[in-house]
Amino acid sequence: MSLRRASAGSPPTQAGGRDLRVAGVRHVYATQDGGEVHALDRIDLDVASGEFLCLVGPSGCGKTTLLQLLAGFLHPTEGAIEAGGVPVVKPGHERGVVFQHPSSLYPWLTVRRNVELGPRLRGVPRGARRARGEQELARVGLLEFADRAVYELSGGMQQRCQIARVLANDPDVMLMDEPFGALDALTREHLQGELRRIWQDTGRTVFFITHSVDEAVALASRVLVMSTRPGRIVLDERLPFSGSSAPLADLRASPAFVEACARVRAAIDSNAGPGRP
Ligand SMILES: Nc1ncnc2c1ncn2[C@@H]1O[C@H](COP(=O)(O)OP(=O)(O)OP(=O)(O)O)[C@@H](O)[C@H]1O
Ligand SMILES: [Mg+2]
Repeated sequence: MSLRRASAGSPPTQAGGRDLRVAGVRHVYATQDGGEVHALDRIDLDVASGEFLCLVGPSGCGKTTLLQLLAGFLHPTEGAIEAGGVPVVKPGHERGVVFQHPSSLYPWLTVRRNVELGPRLRGVPRGARRARGEQELARVGLLEFADRAVYELSGGMQQRCQIARVLANDPDVMLMDEPFGALDALTREHLQGELRRIWQDTGRTVFFITHSVDEAVALASRVLVMSTRPGRIVLDERLPFSGSSAPLADLRASPAFVEACARVRAAIDSNAGPGRP
């Protein structure tokens, strides 16, 4: 599949159909002591191609569980998960995952080899995968570090390397679990701007988990709020800010942005009761 592009500053087209479908999903974990944890309850969700979906909710409400179901790392106790109209039964390169910590990068490989690994495992010829890797390293501003070891990179650079690695694998969907959660505030703001640009340039579908209401409202074309466990979707709202080319700092100062943050925060607060087992 070739990169889908939209002109910079405008949101990607959403005419490409549906990328993700979650239908009637419940998920129950069996615990070591023989008990059960009801993580997700009755989740129904359609994500259109090219959406930037941000999921927020209290700790332990089931956000990572939903991402792992979409990634194919877990199978739902009840209900169905589809990607591109096909049931999800296992992980696939079309659903790339960016984790909170860059521990998924291989320390014994250079930055370049980490990024080329997916195409290599899929049998992409050497020249093509090198070109593709360099394209994605340039996109995230890491081309000059291509031959370094990953442990020689800063935390923010390692997260950019993870993003390049996922993009080099030509995913339809980027699944991102608090990818900027462990970074300092300045680096985080910088990477938010970079991710917005990458989304605007590539038209990738993004499913992004965050604890930050501000981050969700700044980046999302659509924001979801999940209740305390067992997680249910209690707010599903489209937002206008992700398609803007204005600096994020300017957006954050606008009354519309502040009001959207207040709505999302209110939805979290009014559904933040004690979880049920
Ligand atoms: N492998 C597991 N076995 C048993 N329970 C689990 C397992 N993984 C997660 N849980 C439980 O399922 C619930 C949801 O966990 P999950 O990691 O999806 O929450 P989360 O919303 O991502 O939280 P956070 O914001 O803290 O990352 C929690 O109560 C957690 O303890
Ligand atoms: Mg989580």
